[in-house]
Amino acid sequence: MKKIFMYLVMTMIVSFALVACGSDDSETLVMGTSADYPPYESFDTSTGEIVGFDIDIARYITDELGYELEIEDMDFNSLIPALESGRIDFVLAGMTPDDERSQSVDFSDIYYLAKNLIVTTEDSDIHTMEDLEGKTVAVQLGSIQEQEAETIADDFGFEVVKLNRIPEIVQELLAGRIDAILMEDKVAEGFLGAQEGLMSFEVPVEDDEELGAAIAFPKESELVEPFNEKLIEMMENGKMDELILEWFDAEDE
Ligand code: ARG
Repeated sequence: MKKIFMYLVMTMIVSFALVACGSDDSETLVMGTSADYPPYESFDTSTGEIVGFDIDIARYITDELGYELEIEDMDFNSLIPALESGRIDFVLAGMTPDDERSQSVDFSDIYYLAKNLIVTTEDSDIHTMEDLEGKTVAVQLGSIQEQEAETIADDFGFEVVKLNRIPEIVQELLAGRIDAILMEDKVAEGFLGAQEGLMSFEVPVEDDEELGAAIAFPKESELVEPFNEKLIEMMENGKMDELILEWFDAEDE
């Protein structure tokens, strides 16, 4: 009898200890983002929380892998330095993988494709790339769109204006302080739907080169592989389609 009691007490102590360790062990991963990019990520004005397609992907993956998730908002061009300094563990920010960035960070597989648009006001005389001659075209600082604009600015004769947060860039356009914006289709469509007086057209690309979004990690991060596995799982089990429908297709209506 005494033995059994002792045994029970021991088991209880051991299991308490295990439970305690378990909760301590549930490690927190810090995700960096730039919450100026609806529907990928933006501040929900009613709750002050960051919401969006990327946030739901991050929640799903970290949950599945048994991590807690903490989200840190910063300017888009601070994200890669923050990964390099180890201040954050990964980035979801609609970030497009390219060779230059791949020198300093590792990318997951691409989870969503995008195109670039020129956004301008309905009353402007800009209908084609050629009409951009002598105009100012704004881009987000540190983005792929900045690079694209720099590459073609001389050919089309426009001036590139680099600004920080996307909603402010749209405000600059509406206020007439810039003539156009070079930005991603899905993000542009959101602003076009919410805002009167804007129009857009596609930026032509060579050999249907496509832009995509991927998750970025510090170089050699051990998270790349498990995150990729979960991304594949999401594409196979319908979760990705569900999120695409929720965040992208809903706004087309
Ligand atoms: N896809 C573009 C890039 O990688 C722009 C992404 C901007 N993202 C943001 N959250 N503001 O450069």
